[in-house]
Amino acid sequence: MAKSITILGIETSCDETAASIVRNGNEVLSSVVASQIEIHRPFGGVVPEIASRAHMEKIYPVVDKAIKDAQIDIEDIDAVAIANQPGLVISLIVGVTAAKTLSLMWNKPLIAINHVHAHLQSAMIEAKELQLPAVALIVSGGHTNLYDCETALNLKLLGTTIDDAAGEAFDKVAKILDLPYPGGPSIQKMAEKGNPKAIRFPRSMLDKDSLDFSFSGIKTAVLYHCLGQDMKGENQVGNMSEQEIADIAASFQAAVVEVLTKKTALAAEKVGAKSVLLGGGVAANSVLRGSLEGMCRSKGLKLLVAPLKYFTDNAVMVASLAYHKYEAGIFADLSLEALSRS
Ligand code: KG4
Ligand code: ZN
Repeated sequence: MAKSITILGIETSCDETAASIVRNGNEVLSSVVASQIEIHRPFGGVVPEIASRAHMEKIYPVVDKAIKDAQIDIEDIDAVAIANQPGLVISLIVGVTAAKTLSLMWNKPLIAINHVHAHLQSAMIEAKELQLPAVALIVSGGHTNLYDCETALNLKLLGTTIDDAAGEAFDKVAKILDLPYPGGPSIQKMAEKGNPKAIRFPRSMLDKDSLDFSFSGIKTAVLYHCLGQDMKGENQVGNMSEQEIADIAASFQAAVVEVLTKKTALAAEKVGAKSVLLGGGVAANSVLRGSLEGMCRSKGLKLLVAPLKYFTDNAVMVASLAYHKYEAGIFADLSLEALSRS
């Protein structure tokens, strides 16, 4: 019988300190996530310096708990995997330093993981019916990427955002509407009471054939809608009824979902995809999932969505993808750096 491979994954790219033990890429032995949402809430967004300090406090307790929860010994770990890019460098560096230290101390190989590719992997962890080629849509606070996906490691970027990421647009519009952080879930909740056809916000498709995204225009359109073209309608949101705010939230959400769905359909057509994979924090949006489901059904595509617990940042996706790199013999060394870009 082939030797089983047990990997410790670590994730600190933004505001979650996470560690996980995964065996053979899909057997999740433990998953620990220390969320900083409450710490950043009073500031209405992630404060990098505070995030970094919180990672420093949590990183070793979180790793320790992941090993204990998995009921394994350090000797059982075959490699240490770390998401080293993209993200907030000041956050990533805490995880990268911890992973390098553990790799050196324990004498285990180090594996570098791209955080966005790991989000894609989260849609594959429990996927039994994955038919390749697949198109993957990864929508998070920092990224809106479409990939042509041949295998877990063989990904071709088809399109990306030229300005704001989808989740970033949700977060910024939530701020304009005075809704609590994080913005995505707040907008979705508010939108449930609103009419998605109340306001026709722009759907930026860029070129007809383009698979890139642009969400800054719609964010500005919401701002103008609230403050007027002269931007003088200060505190106008404060004067709006709950219904008016709900209508804006629902109309904004409908516009973003329509663009994401149309571009994914176009990408699937271009690469002759059989499946569509969906991952990243914005995948938690049920209207987006419903829209992609409808599109996939009408085009005979199989939609594979990451399990709910792996939508937002976690380390299971890191350890799971690292298994494929381990099998392929792709390792990092102690010169590994934290990088903000993809
Ligand atoms: O993947 P993630 O946890 O972190 C990044 O890698 O960025 O994604 C976080 C993003 C945030 O922008 C958050 O507002 C968004 O995902 N999000 C949502 C929903 N839940 C989280 N956006 C829309 N609808 C949701 N239900
Ligand atoms: Zn993420």
